[in-house]
Amino acid sequence: MGFKELSAKRRSHRRFSPEPVDQKDIDLIVRAALLSPTSKNRRDWKFIVVTERETIADLSRAKDHGAELLSGAPLAIVVVGNPSANDCWVEDCSIAAVTMQYQAEDLGLGSCWVQMRGRGVGDVPASEYIRKLLCLGEEDEVLCVLAIGRKLSPKDPHDEDSLKFSSVKYL
Ligand SMILES: Cc1cc2nc3c(=O)[nH]c(=O)nc-3n(C[C@H](O)[C@H](O)[C@H](O)COP(=O)(O)O)c2cc1C
Repeated sequence: MGFKELSAKRRSHRRFSPEPVDQKDIDLIVRAALLSPTSKNRRDWKFIVVTERETIADLSRAKDHGAELLSGAPLAIVVVGNPSANDCWVEDCSIAAVTMQYQAEDLGLGSCWVQMRGRGVGDVPASEYIRKLLCLGEEDEVLCVLAIGRKLSPKDPHDEDSLKFSSVKYL
Protein backbone atom coordinates (compact mmCIF):
# COMPACT_ATOMS: atom_id res chain seq x y z
CA MET A 1 0.00 0.00 0.00
CA GLY A 2 1.44 3.38 -1.01
CA PHE A 3 1.13 6.50 1.16
CA LYS A 4 -1.74 7.85 -0.95
CA GLU A 5 -3.86 4.84 0.02
CA LEU A 6 -2.51 4.64 3.58
CA SER A 7 -3.36 8.27 4.36
CA ALA A 8 -6.91 7.74 3.08
CA LYS A 9 -7.33 4.49 5.03
CA ARG A 10 -6.21 5.84 8.39
CA ARG A 11 -9.18 6.68 10.59
CA SER A 12 -9.50 6.93 14.34
CA HIS A 13 -10.59 3.60 15.82
CA ARG A 14 -12.01 3.50 19.32
CA ARG A 15 -13.12 -0.13 19.59
CA PHE A 16 -10.66 -2.99 19.47
CA SER A 17 -10.67 -6.76 19.67
CA PRO A 18 -9.07 -7.97 22.92
CA GLU A 19 -6.18 -9.97 21.36
CA PRO A 20 -2.76 -8.59 22.20
CA VAL A 21 -0.77 -6.79 19.53
CA ASP A 22 2.17 -8.92 18.33
CA GLN A 23 5.50 -7.88 19.81
CA LYS A 24 7.01 -7.55 16.31
CA ASP A 25 4.27 -5.05 15.42
CA ILE A 26 4.87 -3.12 18.66
CA ASP A 27 8.58 -3.01 17.79
CA LEU A 28 7.83 -1.61 14.32
CA ILE A 29 5.48 1.04 15.74
CA VAL A 30 8.07 2.18 18.28
CA ARG A 31 10.80 2.10 15.61
CA ALA A 32 8.73 4.43 13.42
CA ALA A 33 8.53 6.91 16.31
CA LEU A 34 12.27 6.69 16.90
CA LEU A 35 12.89 7.42 13.19
CA SER A 36 10.63 10.49 13.18
CA PRO A 37 12.12 13.94 12.68
CA THR A 38 12.81 16.17 15.69
CA SER A 39 13.91 19.76 16.10
CA LYS A 40 17.74 19.91 16.11
CA ASN A 41 17.66 16.12 15.99
CA ARG A 42 17.19 16.23 19.78
CA ARG A 43 15.13 13.05 19.99
CA ASP A 44 14.07 14.24 23.39
CA TRP A 45 10.93 12.19 23.86
CA LYS A 46 9.92 9.05 25.73
CA PHE A 47 7.46 6.38 24.70
CA ILE A 48 5.98 4.25 27.44
CA VAL A 49 4.56 1.04 25.98
CA VAL A 50 1.77 -0.29 28.17
CA THR A 51 0.16 -3.70 27.71
CA GLU A 52 -0.89 -4.34 31.32
CA ARG A 53 -4.68 -4.23 31.27
CA GLU A 54 -4.97 -2.63 34.69
CA THR A 55 -2.52 0.13 33.89
CA ILE A 56 -4.31 0.87 30.60
CA ALA A 57 -7.59 1.07 32.53
CA ASP A 58 -5.91 3.51 34.95
CA LEU A 59 -4.77 5.62 31.98
CA SER A 60 -8.38 5.80 30.77
CA ARG A 61 -9.18 7.73 33.96
CA ALA A 62 -6.54 10.42 33.45
CA LYS A 63 -9.07 12.93 32.13
CA ASP A 64 -12.76 13.70 32.46
CA HIS A 65 -13.91 12.40 29.10
CA GLY A 66 -12.60 11.22 25.76
CA ALA A 67 -10.19 8.65 27.25
CA GLU A 68 -12.66 5.86 28.08
CA LEU A 69 -11.79 4.07 24.84
CA LEU A 70 -8.36 3.27 26.27
CA SER A 71 -9.85 0.71 28.62
CA GLY A 72 -10.73 -1.52 25.65
CA ALA A 73 -7.35 -1.25 23.95
CA PRO A 74 -4.76 -4.04 24.27
CA LEU A 75 -1.93 -1.54 23.74
CA ALA A 76 -1.41 2.04 24.88
CA ILE A 77 1.64 4.12 24.06
CA VAL A 78 2.18 7.15 26.29
CA VAL A 79 3.99 9.95 24.46
CA VAL A 80 6.10 12.04 26.81
CA GLY A 81 8.17 15.18 26.31
CA ASN A 82 10.26 17.53 28.42
CA PRO A 83 9.18 21.20 28.04
CA SER A 84 12.05 22.54 30.13
CA ALA A 85 14.68 20.92 27.89
CA ASN A 86 12.95 21.14 24.51
CA ASP A 87 11.01 24.17 23.25
CA CYS A 88 9.65 22.01 20.40
CA TRP A 89 8.43 19.17 22.62
CA VAL A 90 4.83 19.45 21.42
CA GLU A 91 5.90 19.38 17.78
CA ASP A 92 8.42 16.54 18.25
CA CYS A 93 5.97 14.43 20.25
CA SER A 94 3.08 15.12 17.85
CA ILE A 95 5.12 14.07 14.83
CA ALA A 96 6.22 10.88 16.60
CA ALA A 97 2.64 10.11 17.65
CA VAL A 98 1.11 10.52 14.22
CA THR A 99 3.99 8.58 12.66
CA MET A 100 3.12 5.68 14.97
CA GLN A 101 -0.52 5.96 13.89
CA TYR A 102 0.44 5.60 10.23
CA GLN A 103 2.77 2.67 11.02
CA ALA A 104 -0.05 1.01 12.96
CA GLU A 105 -2.40 1.51 10.01
CA ASP A 106 0.20 0.06 7.64
CA LEU A 107 0.18 -3.05 9.85
CA GLY A 108 -3.62 -3.22 9.59
CA LEU A 109 -4.08 -2.01 13.17
CA GLY A 110 -6.44 0.70 14.35
CA SER A 111 -5.39 3.60 16.55
CA CYS A 112 -6.71 6.69 18.25
CA TRP A 113 -4.92 9.73 19.68
CA VAL A 114 -6.12 10.46 23.21
CA GLN A 115 -5.17 14.01 24.13
CA MET A 116 -3.66 14.52 27.60
CA ARG A 117 -1.84 17.87 27.38
CA GLY A 118 -4.11 20.53 28.87
CA ARG A 119 -6.59 17.91 30.11
CA GLY A 120 -7.24 16.32 33.49
CA VAL A 121 -9.81 15.58 36.15
CA GLY A 122 -10.87 18.57 38.23
CA ASP A 123 -7.70 20.33 39.38
CA VAL A 124 -5.46 17.35 38.65
CA PRO A 125 -3.70 17.63 35.29
CA ALA A 126 -3.55 14.38 33.32
CA SER A 127 0.26 14.68 33.16
CA GLU A 128 0.51 14.76 36.97
CA TYR A 129 -1.76 11.72 37.30
CA ILE A 130 0.19 9.77 34.65
CA ARG A 131 3.57 10.83 36.08
CA LYS A 132 2.57 9.21 39.38
CA LEU A 133 0.98 6.17 37.75
CA LEU A 134 4.02 5.37 35.59
CA CYS A 135 6.72 6.76 37.92
CA LEU A 136 7.86 9.32 35.33
CA GLY A 137 10.28 12.15 36.04
CA GLU A 138 9.14 15.48 37.51
CA GLU A 139 9.86 17.34 34.26
CA ASP A 140 8.01 14.86 32.06
CA GLU A 141 4.84 16.10 30.38
CA VAL A 142 2.41 13.78 28.64
CA LEU A 143 1.23 14.93 25.24
CA CYS A 144 -1.11 12.07 24.44
CA VAL A 145 -1.71 8.37 24.78
CA LEU A 146 -2.22 6.30 21.65
CA ALA A 147 -4.76 3.49 21.86
CA ILE A 148 -3.80 0.73 19.43
CA GLY A 149 -5.28 -2.65 18.59
CA ARG A 150 -7.02 -4.78 16.02
CA LYS A 151 -9.98 -2.92 14.57
CA LEU A 152 -13.32 -4.28 15.72
CA SER A 153 -14.99 -3.02 12.57
CA PRO A 154 -13.73 -1.34 9.44
CA LYS A 155 -14.24 2.37 8.79
CA ASP A 156 -14.61 4.04 5.43
CA PRO A 157 -12.07 6.65 4.43
CA HIS A 158 -13.21 10.26 4.59
CA ASP A 159 -15.23 11.17 1.52
CA GLU A 160 -12.89 12.86 -0.96
CA ASP A 161 -15.63 15.49 -1.51
CA SER A 162 -15.49 16.41 2.22
CA LEU A 163 -11.80 17.33 2.11
CA LYS A 164 -11.41 20.99 3.10
CA PHE A 165 -9.67 22.31 0.04
CA SER A 166 -10.85 25.80 1.07
CA SER A 167 -8.04 25.69 3.68
CA VAL A 168 -5.48 25.48 0.91
CA LYS A 169 -4.32 28.55 -0.93
CA TYR A 170 -2.22 28.37 -4.08
CA LEU A 171 -0.07 31.37 -4.92
C1 LIG B 1 -4.65 16.58 18.81
C2 LIG B 1 -5.73 15.51 18.78
C3 LIG B 1 -6.42 15.21 19.94
C4 LIG B 1 -7.39 14.18 19.94
N1 LIG B 1 -7.95 13.82 21.12
C5 LIG B 1 -8.83 12.80 21.14
C6 LIG B 1 -9.34 12.33 22.37
O1 LIG B 1 -8.97 12.79 23.45
N2 LIG B 1 -10.25 11.32 22.35
C7 LIG B 1 -10.68 10.76 21.16
O2 LIG B 1 -11.52 9.86 21.19
N3 LIG B 1 -10.18 11.16 19.96
C8 LIG B 1 -9.27 12.16 19.92
N4 LIG B 1 -8.70 12.55 18.73
C9 LIG B 1 -9.12 11.91 17.46
C10 LIG B 1 -9.97 12.88 16.65
O3 LIG B 1 -11.25 12.97 17.24
C11 LIG B 1 -10.05 12.39 15.19
O4 LIG B 1 -8.75 12.38 14.64
C12 LIG B 1 -10.95 13.28 14.35
O5 LIG B 1 -12.29 13.17 14.76
C13 LIG B 1 -10.87 12.93 12.85
O6 LIG B 1 -11.23 11.59 12.63
P1 LIG B 1 -10.21 10.58 11.89
O7 LIG B 1 -8.99 10.44 12.76
O8 LIG B 1 -10.98 9.29 11.77
O9 LIG B 1 -9.85 11.17 10.55
C14 LIG B 1 -7.71 13.52 18.71
C15 LIG B 1 -7.00 13.84 17.56
C16 LIG B 1 -6.01 14.80 17.58
C17 LIG B 1 -5.21 15.08 16.32
